[in-house]
Amino acid sequence: MPDGTGGLDALPSWAALRAHAQELEDSTLGDLFAADPARGGALTFEAEGLLLDASKQRVTAQTLELLVALAREAGLEERVTAMFAGEHVNVSEDRAALHVALRAPRAAYVETGGADVVPAVHEVLDRMADFAERVRSGAWTGATGERIRTVVNIGIGGSYLGPEMAAIALAAYVPDELDLRFLSNVDGSDFWRVTRDLDPASTLVIVASKTFTTLETMTNAQTMRDWIVGTLGEDAVARHVVAVSTNEQLVRDFGIDPANMFGFWDWVGGRYSMDSAIGLSTMIAIGAEGFAELLSGFHAIDEHLRETPLERNLPVLMGLLSVWNRNVLGLPTYLQQLEMESNGKHVMTDGSRVRWETSPVLWGEPGTNGQHSFHQLLHQGTEIVPAELIAFTRPLHDVGPHHDLLLANLLGQAEALAFGRSAEELRALGSPEDQIPHRVCEGNRPSSVLLVDGAITPTAVGKLVALYEHRVLTEGVLWGIDSFDQWGVELGKVAAGTLADELTAQAAPDLRHDAATNALVRRLRAARGRPS
Ligand code: F6P
Repeated sequence: MPDGTGGLDALPSWAALRAHAQELEDSTLGDLFAADPARGGALTFEAEGLLLDASKQRVTAQTLELLVALAREAGLEERVTAMFAGEHVNVSEDRAALHVALRAPRAAYVETGGADVVPAVHEVLDRMADFAERVRSGAWTGATGERIRTVVNIGIGGSYLGPEMAAIALAAYVPDELDLRFLSNVDGSDFWRVTRDLDPASTLVIVASKTFTTLETMTNAQTMRDWIVGTLGEDAVARHVVAVSTNEQLVRDFGIDPANMFGFWDWVGGRYSMDSAIGLSTMIAIGAEGFAELLSGFHAIDEHLRETPLERNLPVLMGLLSVWNRNVLGLPTYLQQLEMESNGKHVMTDGSRVRWETSPVLWGEPGTNGQHSFHQLLHQGTEIVPAELIAFTRPLHDVGPHHDLLLANLLGQAEALAFGRSAEELRALGSPEDQIPHRVCEGNRPSSVLLVDGAITPTAVGKLVALYEHRVLTEGVLWGIDSFDQWGVELGKVAAGTLADELTAQAAPDLRHDAATNALVRRLRAARGRPS
């Protein structure tokens, strides 16, 4: 039975790190910059066209030294090696987590279970490329001979979040005549919103599901398939519906020809799958060449992770800063699933309960949107929430002063969070005395700035996603947890299955839930005119 004695707070450097935090406790970021004006340079790290400025985190060079020591004691280097070697690092599901193989070059050798997986990876990529280019060129037509103009990706979680993020981030690389849509939610209004103006003759449906069992996805897929059959006939399915899954039998049972299936493997976690066949919609959108660039970005960061000493390793340093803020200082859409479905755990890999905090709540917004909503909390809230601010050094659409204003806001946010505005400064600006308590920003709120050289490109997106995948890995190793399973979300799916049967049963069901749930089921059945 696990004795719950190992892990983060039992590591030799943990005590030194706590003691160091106490030494730093009374130093604000203003103090730290005053004490060492050159700290900006010492706490800035570059690799593969990415620059990480951690100088507005509440750390010193000594903090990072202690965090790196902690990472070594936690066995981070060994776990990285094990992950790349295809060992079953996903302990609770007894699986490898080998997403790095998805972007390995054709000549690479990446093994799990005694077999090199790279040939199979590139066989799928080649099939995807052939299909994607035929759709893009119009060589692949619908049942009536029309070219495909709308691609609808049906999937949820990792089977849509990555592709949707890529479609938004890389919109400039998608031909105007191609319309990408994402159907994830089981709410019929979502189905109506996505399909209401579609012409079945020019629509391609991608059913993206690792298991091909997810209730929302299979419900949406069945309704969509019925729509295609109802308008174009059963034979049209082969021209309008393809599948992405690990489960060929269920794809066949659903009525999709396995010849129209693009597979992947159980060692690809859902939230680590956007660079697998799950990225088919992305490859159709940006083309096979663009997708290859995306994969090259992922791979560049994989090599950086594997080859760079922890002291200068960007994803490692980002993960360590997260552990510092979360566990030492005690300081949250795609990244939400990657982070919180990976590290929102409460037991270690040996099954013993953690004695420390794990994943924080993570949320965010593109550009300056957040400044008109939750940034108020970041600046003056009662809880200190560390922020990460990401920007590209050049605009993709140079339409006016926009990019300079965007960057000015990014730097301004980091500066304001770090140094705030004191009562004395407000008085000097003439603030009425009774207004001052409301206007003071205490500052000393940590943030990192991540600058990506150039404008957004597929390669840059690949680098950023890999960076966060490996940041999550770093956190998970320090927290001693399995970052690759997701038993918590499985429970909700099982409950929904039972309740769906009870809500739709012909006769009033024998309800055995808590009284409140039973009452709600009866009320909802009555609202649909079913005996309750
Ligand atoms: O949220 C749970 C989960 O299993 C995710 O890990 C996954 O990305 C999502 O559901 C969809 O699963 P599938 O691709 O099997 O439909």
